[in-house]
Amino acid sequence: MTIDNSSTTIKFPEQTRQRRQKVRKAVLPAAGLGTRFLPATKAQPKEMLTVVDKPQIQYVVEECVAAGIEHIIIVTGRGKSSIEDHFDASPLLEKFLEDKGKTDQAELVRSIGDMVQISYTRQKEPLGLGHAVLVARDLVGDEPFAVLLGDVLIPGKNPATKQLIDVYEATGLGAIAVEEVPKHKTHLYGIVNAEPAPQPPFGARLLRIKDLVEKPKPENAPSNLAITGRYVLPPEIFEYLAQTKPGSGGEIQLTDGLRILAQQQGLWAYIYEGVSYDAGDKLGFLIATVELALQNEELGAGFKAYLKSLKLN
Ligand code: G1P
Repeated sequence: MTIDNSSTTIKFPEQTRQRRQKVRKAVLPAAGLGTRFLPATKAQPKEMLTVVDKPQIQYVVEECVAAGIEHIIIVTGRGKSSIEDHFDASPLLEKFLEDKGKTDQAELVRSIGDMVQISYTRQKEPLGLGHAVLVARDLVGDEPFAVLLGDVLIPGKNPATKQLIDVYEATGLGAIAVEEVPKHKTHLYGIVNAEPAPQPPFGARLLRIKDLVEKPKPENAPSNLAITGRYVLPPEIFEYLAQTKPGSGGEIQLTDGLRILAQQQGLWAYIYEGVSYDAGDKLGFLIATVELALQNEELGAGFKAYLKSLKLN
């Protein structure tokens, strides 16, 4: 899509400006059954599948920490207890490593548990992403929060979540990360209908959302700008999600709650800076693994040499 830089600066309602609060919390929905990954996910959570040398969900928790989030709420379900164990302290393992003189490894294990405060709550039925976010309502309370989807990995020094927080804290309105996708893939994403609304310091990356639609067929898609799986939202979204009826796939969709938010308050789409890897299906997972292995400080050079040595047809 082309971006028109000539639009005028948008003025924000005064009460929205006054309500602006620091974004301290993040919700990570992790209750899905992982059916796209069977048989790997029959007895282990998809969030714990390893990309290079750590579970997927650790990348997302690290993005939160890098974005300044102080409290993470992970929405889990039955069979997900290894996620809690992973972010817990592990005194036995730490002592074992220290006794063997492996202090670096002991420190690595300890640092995972020390990263950030994490609370857990359960989504008891698989009623959809919007419902999973709604389950975190009490733990979030009356303050803005981020949402990060665990199967989208966005590595890099400038976290997408931080970019959205900057938009929220500057404007008092929610913001969601978007990126262009090929038109024939719109049925895999939430798609936004948005108009350019450039303003400093965000420039042409900032768009005002007119509407959103979850997983439209290419012929019905209002654009090719897809929701990437990073959101910063005001607490009013909970009210709208509570009103949201089942939509695409018979599930309560976050995108449908966002439609109401966009109409009632306004909502930004932000063409974030960075590259996302969709590790949510088997091919995407393999691509994420190769890309992140190539970027890995310890393994990158050796892995690259190996890939170059392959005789591919
Ligand atoms: C979810 C959201 C969708 C978004 C996508 C990003 O869909 O509902 O709007 O574009 O994540 O990965 P899911 O992939 O969980 O079906």
